Amino acid sequence: MQTKRATTIFFSPTGTTRKVLSALASGLGDDRPEVIDLTAPGVEQAPSLTLDKGIAVIGVPVYGGRVPPVAKKRLERLRGDGVPAVLVAVYGNRAIDDALLELSDIARAQGFIPAAGASFIGEHSFATPETPVAAGRPDDQDVEIARDFGRRIRSKLEQAQTLEGLEAPEFPGNRPYRERKGSPNIAPVTDAALCVRCGSCAEACPVGAIEVRETEVVTDPTLCIWCCACTRACPEQARSLTQEPVPQSRKWLWENCSARQEPTLFGA
Ligand SMILES: Cc1cc2nc3c(=O)[nH]c(=O)nc-3n(C[C@H](O)[C@H](O)[C@H](O)COP(=O)(O)O)c2cc1C
Repeated sequence: MQTKRATTIFFSPTGTTRKVLSALASGLGDDRPEVIDLTAPGVEQAPSLTLDKGIAVIGVPVYGGRVPPVAKKRLERLRGDGVPAVLVAVYGNRAIDDALLELSDIARAQGFIPAAGASFIGEHSFATPETPVAAGRPDDQDVEIARDFGRRIRSKLEQAQTLEGLEAPEFPGNRPYRERKGSPNIAPVTDAALCVRCGSCAEACPVGAIEVRETEVVTDPTLCIWCCACTRACPEQARSLTQEPVPQSRKWLWENCSARQEPTLFGA
């Protein structure tokens, strides 16, 4: 089966999912994959897209044990016309819960054929230098695992006579999926004394929640998804997410989720 051309498709506010997918695509034999980046808010206005060849590598971060709703909405703008897909859930060293199963269900509903999948670990979006969780992940070891997994998927697909003959991987998780918790309307705040109004935060925000005005930066808490892309993008360290329940959750993660976990691979 000819599958060499890869397309990576991801939602990745802090870049860890993107990094895993790029290593996986390289293992699949494509160092310069097509990239469909669903992170910027503009993709919701772009025309929907159909993939009809090659292999798709689809990745999302785990939010509350699920696929982030905004990522689901954006993935539903894509069709995979019988194209095989590798599904990847990247999590912050707590757990993936139902995210990989849900991602596989979304991909199947959009016409992709789940051929393999994996969970990888990415530095937790809430982590800080004082409360590190999975700091620096994915690291070199994770990247090598992703590359090697890509190689194995490639050889599995090359050996398969037909896509229909591929055995569907069994992903962990339950249906109905874990209930999404309602979250309070909070968002990162800007320290006016540090902010130089450069706009890096607004540019990084995947949901267009930040407006840089003449004298202040305003964030719409009803749009914010707490992804922390803005706090990481700020060159002045002027942005921080300090309202509860985030500090509490940050401390809990640091105390309970610091032991290193490893990627889990399914289907190859
Ligand atoms: C709102 C929110 C919820 C999260 N929920 C989980 C979770 O349930 N389990 C987990 O291990 N990590 C969780 N994380 C951490 C992210 O999955 C992790 O940091 C991931 O690497 C971020 O991916 P990205 O760099 O592609 O944005 C959560 C992060 C955010 C912002």
